[in-house]
Amino acid sequence: MKVSVLHYLGLVLLCVALVRAEESKEWQEYGDHEEEVTISRVREEEQSHAYDWTPEISACIIAHNDKTMNNLSLEDCKAHCQTEAGFDCRSVEYYKTSKSCALSATTSSSSMYRKPCPNGNVVYTEISS
Ligand SMILES: *[C@@H]1O[C@H](CO)[C@@H](O)[C@H](O)[C@H]1NC(C)=O
Repeated sequence: MKVSVLHYLGLVLLCVALVRAEESKEWQEYGDHEEEVTISRVREEEQSHAYDWTPEISACIIAHNDKTMNNLSLEDCKAHCQTEAGFDCRSVEYYKTSKSCALSATTSSSSMYRKPCPNGNVVYTEISS
């Protein structure tokens, strides 16, 4: 009798241990799943930051240059606009001959927008999304 009670207790303890192990495995799987969800959310955010730019045309916005930079390619100029933290950069003007670039929070909806640009050959593009 004593032996079978101990045997029974032993089985119960074994079952408890197995359930615990299963639970911790589930938690681990849940944890991995959480991590995957987080990674895919980060990917979605990265994609939503894949900016679209309007076609490059000869235009400009009179004044409204919030930041100017020199010795940049047009691609660099656009990249700077996308990462500008000091203001909400929405458009760039690029001067090919001097390789200078102007970032602006203003867009073609401004009354100061000119197409073509009266100040010579300026490439204009703005973030469309
Ligand atoms: C302009 O940029 C190029 C390429 O990044 C670099 O090699 C060169 O030194 C820069 N010139 C000036 C004047 O900063």
